[in-house]
Amino acid sequence: MSNYHIKHLEEYYQVYRKSVRNPEVFWEEIAEEHFMWRKKWDNVLSWDFTKPEVKWFEGAQLNITENCIDRHLYTRGDKTAIIFEPNDPKESAEHITYKQLHDRVCRFANVLKEKGIKKGDRVCIYLPMIPELAISVLACARIGAIHSVVFAGFSASALATRIKDSECKMVITSDGSFRGSKTIDLKGIVDEALDECDTVQNVLVANRIDSKIKMKEGRDYWLEPLLDVASTDCEPEIMNAEDPLFILYTSGSTGKPKGMVHTTAGYMVYTAYTFKNVFQYREKDVYWCTADIGWITGHSYIVYGPLCNGATTIMFEGVPSYPDFGRFWEIVEKHKVNQFYTAPTAIRALAKEGVDHLEKHDLSSLKVLGTVGEPINEEAWHWYDDNVGKKKAPIVDTWWQTETGGIMITPIAFATPTKPTYATLPFIGIQPALMDENGKEIKGNQVDGRLCIKFPWPSMARTIWGNHQRYKDTYFAAFENKYFTGDGALRDEVGYYRITGRVDDVIIVSGHNLGTAPIEDAINEHPAVAESAIVGFPHDIKGNALYGYVTLKETGESRNHDNLRKEINQLITEQVGPIAKLDKIQFTAGLPKTRSGKIMRRILRKIACKDTSNLGDTSTLLNPEIVKGIMDEVL
Ligand code: PRX
Repeated sequence: MSNYHIKHLEEYYQVYRKSVRNPEVFWEEIAEEHFMWRKKWDNVLSWDFTKPEVKWFEGAQLNITENCIDRHLYTRGDKTAIIFEPNDPKESAEHITYKQLHDRVCRFANVLKEKGIKKGDRVCIYLPMIPELAISVLACARIGAIHSVVFAGFSASALATRIKDSECKMVITSDGSFRGSKTIDLKGIVDEALDECDTVQNVLVANRIDSKIKMKEGRDYWLEPLLDVASTDCEPEIMNAEDPLFILYTSGSTGKPKGMVHTTAGYMVYTAYTFKNVFQYREKDVYWCTADIGWITGHSYIVYGPLCNGATTIMFEGVPSYPDFGRFWEIVEKHKVNQFYTAPTAIRALAKEGVDHLEKHDLSSLKVLGTVGEPINEEAWHWYDDNVGKKKAPIVDTWWQTETGGIMITPIAFATPTKPTYATLPFIGIQPALMDENGKEIKGNQVDGRLCIKFPWPSMARTIWGNHQRYKDTYFAAFENKYFTGDGALRDEVGYYRITGRVDDVIIVSGHNLGTAPIEDAINEHPAVAESAIVGFPHDIKGNALYGYVTLKETGESRNHDNLRKEINQLITEQVGPIAKLDKIQFTAGLPKTRSGKIMRRILRKIACKDTSNLGDTSTLLNPEIVKGIMDEVL
């Protein structure tokens, strides 16, 4: 099995060199040896970043679910594919074998077909972390329907925007969800969203919380009775390499969310190959990624990457704090987890609780620890290393994005020496570049700049659903012939990368990517608000929290600011979701603007961070006096 388990740094460099000197030969070998194809490709790669257009394995035919399920049936049919760990620790975990997964995916796929879903149709999935979520994702892929999973913490309005954008024909949801001690009325949220969406013909509803919900006649169906009578055989739809597999929405710095489109063959090859190498997954290992399948991490590293490798992957329905902060460690001990992949925000929240919870559990099964979603600070890195990994489990700090589909810059466990806060080296086949503000590449080490990628990789998103121009403008316009990530990074003396954070108006809160525009739109809907601007400021646990500057309309009336703050956060919860609530709201007489009317967020960001010693040049502002007023109020 060539290059499939990289074991030491020298081997990494060797394979890396091979992968960039001759990418086509390299990826062809990987694709040929490790996957099941109905027809091989005619051409490994064609690309043009000016259009932009990228095609991998053109001419090939396959179905990703045959790779994730069917091909394991002979050798691993009775192996556990998915362990479902429910929210309530008193409820038993469910072990789903590859054979059972096959039958459940086929049944689900047959239900979709019976309800008229065909290849190319978009299906929105709005489910909690229960087995039906992974199964419905795979069922869509089985029949060539394009899944669009929306994180079940988004509001009705955010859900509606996503359903409308990709004109989904169906929504799959549940009656409700359990989250810690709360239950959430998911079906109610779907009903509200569907008031605005006329493309949805059917809603399939899984029963999770046994609640009495309203079912709309002719539109809504309980899933279980349909699954019960469906056949466990479903021939996979034969897909072309570049047929879309899924759409996943991510926030942009402006405008509505972007529906990133991922296609079939390249995504499969890259997520499977990265999974096996980065985490050094071995046949009997139990792997756990704590993300939600509503995010890209869950798509690539709970579902597709692990299952393609015949792995055992855990799905956890709950939260780290329920019933107490020992829950993660209890699960690690219970299922003897070998690879554990989580986010810095969870690590910080757990670290705050001390080590008592950890000490109650046997964590000796852990071999590899992972982190993703935002920069990890030094303190959290050491806490993770010392207390969870006991200095024996390497930490893979994996940098990547919804748009990249798979892990891009990362240590390879046991092969790459780790360094706190550094994502370290580009993964095999990835060619990063740091650019200066004039569009020139900064060569050499001990430098920093804007992070770009110079050469295509198999799992990159191919377009934004319905808006190829926006795809081009967002990712390929800033630097000629390069994919621009939106992140800043530095490269140290040995060539290790450290991601320093976003250089645009996207703010990462608790690992969730939030664009400023939809939040500001929500605030501005308040009748008393004239305009608003939000920025991020450092927060001990969330990494960043949101700071809103709000200017009120001049009506002459006096307003209760505390009530207004509550109303504004309520609007944000309704329109975007509770994750986007503001931690601080400052009412200001105006917002600093350039002469062309653009809000100077750079200044607002500095004030929010109480870093006012060097505000930079404010003389070009239309209204420099505003800055002083805002500062006086804060300091
Ligand atoms: O800023 C980077 C940050 O998260 C952004 C991508 O967010 P999203 O598309 O939601 O995907 C998150 C999961 C892959 C990036 O542009 N980010 C992600 N991983 C890291 C990170 N920042 C620093 N270190 C990381 N390991």
